[in-house]
Amino acid sequence: HLNPSNFGASSDGQWPNIVILTGAGISAESGLKTFRDNDGLWEEHALEEVATPEAFSRNPELVYRFYNQRREQLQSADVQPNAAHIALAKLESAFPENVLIITQNVDDLHERAGSKNVLHMHGELLSARCNQSHRRFIMKRPFDGTSRCQCCSPSQTIRPDIVWFGEMPFHMEEIECAVQEADVFISIGTSGNVYPAAGLVQIANHYGAHTVELNLAPSEGNNDFLEAHYGLASAVVPHYLTQYLKGK
Ligand code: APR
Repeated sequence: HLNPSNFGASSDGQWPNIVILTGAGISAESGLKTFRDNDGLWEEHALEEVATPEAFSRNPELVYRFYNQRREQLQSADVQPNAAHIALAKLESAFPENVLIITQNVDDLHERAGSKNVLHMHGELLSARCNQSHRRFIMKRPFDGTSRCQCCSPSQTIRPDIVWFGEMPFHMEEIECAVQEADVFISIGTSGNVYPAAGLVQIANHYGAHTVELNLAPSEGNNDFLEAHYGLASAVVPHYLTQYLKGK
């Protein structure tokens, strides 16, 4: 059972709060490329050409093409949540008040696995944003030069709902509060290269959480974690969470 004695009781003696940070590595076994592994996305594309506001104003068609490719791949039948996504959804359904996923990923695999408390700090592939009002909406068809928002007049161009390099991530206040309240902070499938996501473990440590890294290989920040288990997420995550799901 997930109970205070397993984790070290949370401040109010209730069920401990578990905050999970995920990165591209949790979706690798679902068939989505990571960024910095071999044949990762940043080997195929210079991020300055497809993942910055300057790139979008300089060559929107190239940026549209990059995200259309990733959207198409995400929506193909062979991309499904894997055992790691499913184990996290099971943990949340067992303890709905105490589990939050903060993800750097822009795919919807956590939601498709059944997770509901998910914050996408780098945006989402399947939605779009008005370049003027920043209003967000689901984008059903591929981006193209004629894509216009319906919220402004005259209507403005729309952009992928992605946080690009040099832009502020979403939900940062809520994220920092949740990490400060966490009794357990579990980082899964991230290389720890990109801030502020990579700095969350230090906040968790500072506020006394039990910090755990579950990854294929030690991340940049691996020394900041009190506990670590290495291997494929689809094996390591379900195994690690079993101790809390027993009898659930
Ligand atoms: N199981 C577990 N971990 C894995 C697996 C796997 N099957 N495959 C890869 N990994 C690990 C790698 O060891 C690496 O530490 O996942 C991590 C992937 O690192 P990155 O490719 O850097 O992805 P991520 O950390 O999510 O990148 C963060 O950088 O480019 C930006 O916005 C982008 O959100 C992204 C951010």
